[in-house]
Amino acid sequence: PTITFTQPTGEATEVTVEEGTSLMRAAVTNGIEGIVGECGGQAMCATCHVFVRPEFAGQLPEVSDDEDEMLDCTTAERTDSSRLGCQIKMSGELGNIVVDVPSDQV
Ligand code: FES
Repeated sequence: PTITFTQPTGEATEVTVEEGTSLMRAAVTNGIEGIVGECGGQAMCATCHVFVRPEFAGQLPEVSDDEDEMLDCTTAERTDSSRLGCQIKMSGELGNIVVDVPSDQV
């Protein structure tokens, strides 16, 4: 699978990842600006906040209670498209997912 990260500037970066890798991990490994992942993927920091494009949102698992709570603590305002990158596990089914990186992360 691949992930396209779009920055607030419009600059897009596509990365290819292994199945099972989280979207947050993929971003950090590839030096994607604006995704921090401070807590290491425990759904405890909200610095991996991304906006998932609507066409991909339906392919993701439901937001868990932990994720839901953290999404109320994001720096950039939460929207209907908000997800925690660390809770998105990449799989072939997601194909080429496109996410927008918030302008403020920490
Ligand atoms: Fe901390 Fe996702 S990395 S909540």
